[in-house]
Amino acid sequence: MIRALALDDIKAAEGQLTTLLNELFSLPIEALRINLDKYSLNSLNGFFSSEGKDYFFKFHQEEGEEAMRGEYYRADILAHAGLPVDQPVHMSTLPGEQVLVYARRSDPRFSDLLYELDFADDPVAVARAVEAEADLNDHLLAVAINSLHPITPAQSRAEPIHRLFHERLIDPETGAFPGGRYKRFYVGKRFLLPGGLTLTWEEIAHARPVINGLAYQRSLEEIFVLAHQRYQPEALADAGGVVAHGDAHNANVWYERGSDKDRLCFFDPAFAGSDVPSLLAEVKPTFHNVFAHPLWLYSASIVSERYAASVRYEDGKLIIDTDWQPSSLRKALLKAKAEHFWKPWLRHLKSKGMLPDDWEDVVRIGLFLSPTLVMNLNAGEGADLHNPVSSAIGLAVALSAASRPLEGSDLISDFFDSIRPDGEPSWQRR
Ligand SMILES: Nc1ncnc2c1ncn2[C@@H]1O[C@H](COP(=O)(O)OP(=O)(O)O)[C@@H](O)[C@H]1O
Ligand SMILES: [Mg+2]
Repeated sequence: MIRALALDDIKAAEGQLTTLLNELFSLPIEALRINLDKYSLNSLNGFFSSEGKDYFFKFHQEEGEEAMRGEYYRADILAHAGLPVDQPVHMSTLPGEQVLVYARRSDPRFSDLLYELDFADDPVAVARAVEAEADLNDHLLAVAINSLHPITPAQSRAEPIHRLFHERLIDPETGAFPGGRYKRFYVGKRFLLPGGLTLTWEEIAHARPVINGLAYQRSLEEIFVLAHQRYQPEALADAGGVVAHGDAHNANVWYERGSDKDRLCFFDPAFAGSDVPSLLAEVKPTFHNVFAHPLWLYSASIVSERYAASVRYEDGKLIIDTDWQPSSLRKALLKAKAEHFWKPWLRHLKSKGMLPDDWEDVVRIGLFLSPTLVMNLNAGEGADLHNPVSSAIGLAVALSAASRPLEGSDLISDFFDSIRPDGEPSWQRR
């Protein structure tokens, strides 16, 4: 298969792809190049030219019936709802996958722009970026309000967004829990933390988190067990469905520079749908565009030069202290998302009688699962890209998303308090 060959002998794979794309699309294919990229861990993609135009191609793996309803179909759903999204110029279906061809873009991804701005002193660029985020969220809110409708458990189940959450907690064949990435990354594994501390899964799974002096309600295993139960696709039908991208982290968003303002545009809508459970639609972007940065999630190898983290395990407590926190830019993006999307959205759901009582838990579970299931945060047994410092920061961030501090407040509880619909008490139902 070309994927395997690409890892082994990239020139040979490029030669085979040139022939394949030429046959599939009846286009002359020149200067084909395969890309390797830290945000797209699974897809085979790259660039080519044809008759003086530049293109981007990607192979999108799909299973079973999904093959007919892949990214092409999903881009169309978003475009129909009026959301800004790239649509392919050519598409072809092969057994088990779609091959998509897009016009090649030269805009930066929003993730790349923000990555630069995290450590730059450029208030003008920051203000433009935050304004673009606010505008996008106004648009997302309008589309969500327009498209909100009751969905059946079966409609929820049919949405691909569950592949980002629930399906990563279970065995794909048998449905057994624990399974999937959850089991592969964490269950039964040894964890390696700063200062050479090693903890078994049994120890870390049940430990009470204490992060920067605040004690939290839920242990690591408790939140995964709750997630498995509450994120059953059928159970998420209770808040209705909307048209949404679902995986709009900023490495799936273009930053288009304009003269008076800049504008954001989606791409890579493989998990989009028209019945996306309404509390899940913006969870992943909320986590990845704010709490994953600066650096710790995607650039773990340089994190220990800039931030410190220490961990102790005492009396069944997992005590993590770190000086890591989101940059002022990320906090401004969170405020924009809270004011332009979450607060009015929750108020709208409530006014329609579609806001479940445990909405805060539903959103918290999604924030927690976003980093823990996208990458292996364990730096010990079976470690992938993470090291003891980034692992400790990651666990601190994920566990503070998982539940409120028992006393006091943190950035995430402040976020929830800022979006809570009027008339709700400012503490979480237990
Ligand atoms: N139209 C395009 N023009 C140029 N580069 C692109 C284009 N579409 C995607 N890319 C680049 O390829 C990367 C992977 O594409 P994406 O569609 O996000 O696939 P994946 O499913 O791997 O996330 C993107 O992060 C971006 O850098
Ligand atoms: Mg992508």
